[in-house]
Amino acid sequence: MAAGLAICYQLSVNDIYLSVMSMTSENQDFIEAAKTVLSMNDKGAYTAPVNSSMYPHQWLWDSCFIAIGLRHYDIDRAKTEIFSLLRGQWANGMMPNMILAGSKTSNSVNIWRSWVNPNAPDDVFTSGITQPPMLAEAIVRLGEELSKPERRSWYKSTFPALLAYHEWLYNERDPHNEGLVLLVHPWETGLDNTPPWMHELQDHQMPLWIKVVDTLRLTTAFNFLRNDTKSVSPKDRMTTPDALALYSAQRRLRRKNYDIKRILTRTQFTIEDITFNSILIRANQHLTNIAELINAELPEKLTTSIQKTEKALDQLWDPYASQYFSREFVSHRLLKQPSIGTLMPLYAGTITKERAQQLVQSIENEQMFGTHFPIPSVPVNDQYFDYRRYWQGPTWVNTNWLIIDGLRRYGFDDHAEALRESTIDMVKQVGFYEYFSPLDGKPYGAPNFSWTAALIIDLLENTSKQTTKSRKNTRSDS
Ligand code: GLC
Repeated sequence: MAAGLAICYQLSVNDIYLSVMSMTSENQDFIEAAKTVLSMNDKGAYTAPVNSSMYPHQWLWDSCFIAIGLRHYDIDRAKTEIFSLLRGQWANGMMPNMILAGSKTSNSVNIWRSWVNPNAPDDVFTSGITQPPMLAEAIVRLGEELSKPERRSWYKSTFPALLAYHEWLYNERDPHNEGLVLLVHPWETGLDNTPPWMHELQDHQMPLWIKVVDTLRLTTAFNFLRNDTKSVSPKDRMTTPDALALYSAQRRLRRKNYDIKRILTRTQFTIEDITFNSILIRANQHLTNIAELINAELPEKLTTSIQKTEKALDQLWDPYASQYFSREFVSHRLLKQPSIGTLMPLYAGTITKERAQQLVQSIENEQMFGTHFPIPSVPVNDQYFDYRRYWQGPTWVNTNWLIIDGLRRYGFDDHAEALRESTIDMVKQVGFYEYFSPLDGKPYGAPNFSWTAALIIDLLENTSKQTTKSRKNTRSDS
């Protein structure tokens, strides 16, 4: 009997050993597959989101996420990803959301015409707006892979650009010194058709001609303008009237030469975005830590603004809905269409534990964010929710990554681990897609998407312990 038990025990230990080994080698294969995606999309000095005409350019927050993955196996290539982003920085500090591939006569370059603004660089063509400030996070994560002296020199080489970017954010985008920066286009949020922005757009900025085109059901006539629906189903993308409205809003900014003073006169479409400002808070913490490590002083004006932002986030909390919302800049009206933005203050890390707990409850709630394959970009009980329509429902790996990080910061380690595992499993089942149905994990959007691959590498390589270690790194060692 005892011998029987012993055999049984041995077998089960062996089984566990074998299954752990096969899991490890399975993960290794998965990491290799992710690396293949990144090398497929590698354009030399930068990585495109996919290797197709759908996304040929370099995007700001994409490259930051990509560098965070690359750092695990090719730190030099990761640095190149960041340096290539800095090529696009404007003389006033602005980091554009896109550095455009193509010559002066190409379509995208002509849509933007960055040269209408004197601050745009002469040797590269860019957009005229920004994207969530993930740059500081990427710089710090790369720094974690370096020895202390190398880290210092990496920080020194990137600090001036980072500082200029943060100063620009406050100088141009916080004109009333409120501590919250404003955005002028949905593309700046990175969550292009997120409901609060689309709702505002439809209310205030939808040009009459687009309404007419929509009413007369003539939108298909404009399909030729849409690069994104050539290889991906239109059901996965924003609607054509919404896409036309976004282009029309971009035109308006171009007519004003991307000059914020001119833009701010007579516009009703400026929003203090919850996701952007949450990411900014975290980025400011990184900037402050970097400055400390290299013995650089932050300008006093900037330090004051940084402190203000941390406090001002509280104004975006709605006690009735127990959610954070973005806010209209002029009227201070909260935009109460629910979205994943409500969870981003977890990543900021400056809200109280009680608030964080309330957000975690909405993640657990099956009527809101607690789906089979979390976390949906819009809660499932909202009228905007559509499981496959871009930022109006699908689960994205980059927002999960931000939330996992935030959950850990608040000590919700089990929640963080569960989300990390479900994110990895979701992608493992179907591949490195752009986004996924939160209901059944089916893939949507573009296949072989760079940030999905890069962040899966990071989630697999980076255990909770490492993140704790890295937090200490950014704070204290020099
Ligand atoms: C879409 C996404 C944006 C991303 C870009 C490139 O515009 O909404 O977040 O940066 O594609 O992947």
